[in-house]
Amino acid sequence: MFNKESIPFAPMLIESMRSLGYSFQSAIADLIDNSISAGATRIDIRLLPTENPYLIILDNGCGMNSSEIEEAMRYGSKNPLDERKKDDLGRFGLGLKSASLSQCRKLTVVSKKDNTMSSYSWDLDYIAQQEAWLLQGYSKEEINELPEINLLDGIKNGTYILLQNFDRIKESTNDLNTTLTKSMDDTIEHLSLVFHRFLTSGLDIYVNNSKIEDKDPFLLTNKKTQFKREQKFSINGSNITVKPYILPHISALTKEDIKKVGGKERLRNEQGFYVYRNKRLIIWGTWFKLGRKEELSKLARVKVDIPNDLDYMWNIDIKKSSAKLPDIIKRNLYNCVEQSIFSSENVHKYRGRKEANKDISYIWERNNIRGEIEYKINRDIPQLKLLQESLNDKELKVLESLLEKLEESLPINALYVDACNGKVKDDNSNDTEELYADVMEQIEYAKIQGMDYKMLLKAFLKTEPYCNNKELTKKIQEVLENE
Ligand SMILES: Nc1ncnc2c1ncn2[C@@H]1O[C@H](COP(=O)(O)OP(=O)(O)O)[C@@H](O)[C@H]1O
Ligand SMILES: [Mg+2]
Repeated sequence: MFNKESIPFAPMLIESMRSLGYSFQSAIADLIDNSISAGATRIDIRLLPTENPYLIILDNGCGMNSSEIEEAMRYGSKNPLDERKKDDLGRFGLGLKSASLSQCRKLTVVSKKDNTMSSYSWDLDYIAQQEAWLLQGYSKEEINELPEINLLDGIKNGTYILLQNFDRIKESTNDLNTTLTKSMDDTIEHLSLVFHRFLTSGLDIYVNNSKIEDKDPFLLTNKKTQFKREQKFSINGSNITVKPYILPHISALTKEDIKKVGGKERLRNEQGFYVYRNKRLIIWGTWFKLGRKEELSKLARVKVDIPNDLDYMWNIDIKKSSAKLPDIIKRNLYNCVEQSIFSSENVHKYRGRKEANKDISYIWERNNIRGEIEYKINRDIPQLKLLQESLNDKELKVLESLLEKLEESLPINALYVDACNGKVKDDNSNDTEELYADVMEQIEYAKIQGMDYKMLLKAFLKTEPYCNNKELTKKIQEVLENE
């Protein structure tokens, strides 16, 4: 037997490595991963419309010296099987090159370390021409000619990544700058979600000097977000933590919240697991076929933290945009899914449950008749009691017929669809003064009718929406005590 080294034909392989399936945003996110792993606390992305647009990613991480850049530029610079530092977001030793060159034809890396700048680039046209894996290195003078290279001036250690010649995007549009700007807007959205946990713990990312805000998918700033007990399980000695959150009902979301979750539609579509590898969001908005995307679970989101030492188990792909969760992890997650679906169902459960709380009378009663549900207007609410006392038989018949017609014509299908789309206006008045005036007006009328108005007041105390307003019930109680 003898050996024969077989070197890949550079122009072919480097071209085919461009087609790993990176999108513009996933490519940028991969470069941001590198900056984070390098310990950066500030990352600047620069993309301004020019005749030959370029994109810069600048970080203040540890930087690289000349031989480190050389090594970083090599395809497969690290063995994916090597043990990584705990907080390393890298994996295959391919991201820097394959992400960058998936979008453009020239990647230049300038890095500053120990006050020395070094630089190398991969230029696909040069490789095609030379038919060899030839990096191009730059002298100090040549580095100084790079666009906005003075950005590195204020930084002690750091890295400047320059992408030029966006051939693929160019081919897809007749207005390169507009398309790039639009892609950058989408990228900002993507980064604000994918790196949201870094953005609230010491990392700032700027795009053309404007800071990216974090997009927390669990809406933790909203006090009505509920969370369930955090659970941990161990796989081959590594801990996975699972924490279910239930977002507030759509009527309790602020405009800001709705913007954070990307609109009402995404609130529903992006229910499910949010899987983080080293705090970086990898996959989100899926139940991994463990549960169905139900309308009722749309408020449930489950945070799953997986350390990078379990990479070998879950087939993470080069772009880090998909990953297959092993069955053993799925099985462990199952309980949490059940629980969160169940709980978020609670948030949505119809307000008028008769069986729910016997001490409250609901305007709408939900009756379960051998598995079939019917909704009826509760005839015992104080307003109806009052009318029953004051109307004559003929008028009562009209009233009863009206109530029946209302019950029969409840637009259930439209309500269901609208509620699922979060479009039902929830403008129940909770204003104490208004509710109080409403109650007292009816009590005055009951007095005129010679009714037992104290009974009626007590009935109001138990009826929605009055019973939900603590201030109001206190006021009614005071009236009762003073009578
Ligand atoms: N912004 C950066 N700052 C410092 N070092 C970097 C930076 N980007 C890349 N590197 C170095 O280059 C190596 C190769 O990066 P990359 O091709 O993305 O593969 P991976 O991230 O999987 O290691 C990294 O492991 C790191 O050592
Ligand atoms: Mg990387």
